[in-house]
Amino acid sequence: MRVLVTAGPTREPLDPVRFLGNRSSGRMGYSIARALLARGHEVILVSGPTSLKPPKGVVLEAVETGRQMLTACRKHWKTCDALFGVAAVADYRPAKVSKRKLKKTENVSKTLELVSNPDILATLARSKGKRLAFGFALESGSGLTEALRKLRDKNLDWIALNGPEAQGSKISSLRVLGADGSDHLLGPANKEALARTLVRTALGSNY
Ligand code: CTP
Repeated sequence: MRVLVTAGPTREPLDPVRFLGNRSSGRMGYSIARALLARGHEVILVSGPTSLKPPKGVVLEAVETGRQMLTACRKHWKTCDALFGVAAVADYRPAKVSKRKLKKTENVSKTLELVSNPDILATLARSKGKRLAFGFALESGSGLTEALRKLRDKNLDWIALNGPEAQGSKISSLRVLGADGSDHLLGPANKEALARTLVRTALGSNY
């Protein structure tokens, strides 16, 4: 299969030197890409800025912002059979990007105005047809209700529920919920092992 994977954080610029970002390392997305490659799939990895080495054999599209990520994903989604939305996309971006560095004397940004970013996973999964869409739900509480809501609202086949401690950590656990009502607890394990089990769970043993 040809599989599209989003990974890493996004950076939403404020001026030429500053951005809004988050703590995502990209490790989970890159591990999923590696697990897919190891099973013989073709992988397009659309990644925000990370310090990770791209897995060997992957087609890498490096992007910075959420909107760039959506554009790159749209281009590839037409020819892909499955999607793993793993990126920690910023939900908001600054309403204005200053062409020059904002000065503290100017008092321009005492209040930062933000506008919504597109939801990449939901946008792509809307037109998925029979293709497979896998997403994550990063929740700070127990999160089960929210994860099930995202599974349904974003038209996904699978959603993996995890907590904020997963960002940047090496060992974590996941609860993987299927649109068919299935419920799997994976881990605790390192992200490489977790990614392999996750891919096997989502694609079944035939793929
Ligand atoms: N996602 C995305 N584009 C966005 C936001 C999220 O593709 N702009 C994807 C993530 O890759 C993840 C899933 O949607 O697979 C859920 O992300 P999460 O941050 O848990 O939830 P949100 O939908 O952003 O909702 P909220 O922040 O309100 O919990």
